[in-house]
Amino acid sequence: MRFVIFLILFSALLPAQKAQLPDAAGKDTVMRVCAQCHGVEIFATKGNTRDGWTEVVSQMIARGAQGSDDDFATIVDYLATNLPPHSEVKKINVNKAAAAELSAGLQISDKDAGAIVGYRKQNGDFKSMADLKKVPGVDAAKLDSAKDKIAF
Ligand code: HEC
Repeated sequence: MRFVIFLILFSALLPAQKAQLPDAAGKDTVMRVCAQCHGVEIFATKGNTRDGWTEVVSQMIARGAQGSDDDFATIVDYLATNLPPHSEVKKINVNKAAAAELSAGLQISDKDAGAIVGYRKQNGDFKSMADLKKVPGVDAAKLDSAKDKIAF
């Protein structure tokens, strides 16, 4: 329930702070061609590869976007350069995450996740990987392999 409330609040906030496109060469062309049917905010927070953006632009041409070949080449360049794929690594904060989030996100056992939460309650926040490995019984090798996903 709390999560649902959060979602509602969050979506209510979104229109208030419309996403902006980064200032860079080609932005004016994007604004001219891509804001005819919808606002630029529907793609300003997206990220994609050059191939992915090329595909999006050809879908928009199929939907009726108007521009010259040069315009569309400029737009693909702009999008590929300024809106690259988002990093796919989702970080898990080991000082805040619940046990279920730790086990699923870091692919450690429920027992290790529970031990991490228990240790943290007693000893305060972890500051480093070395701290985290002090948790009795925890599988240090698994933590090492998840280290790119761990935030403190
Ligand atoms: C002729 C009208 C038109 C123009 C111009 C246009 N679009 Fe769209 N675009 C649409 C429509 C219609 C949708 C579908 C909206 C929906 O799915 O609710 C859409 C959706 C999108 C989406 C969301 C796709 C998804 O599934 O998440 C992106 C991204 C997008 N457009 C990017 C662009 C870009 C970049 C340009 C400039 C090259 C552009 N659009 C120009 C009509 C247009």
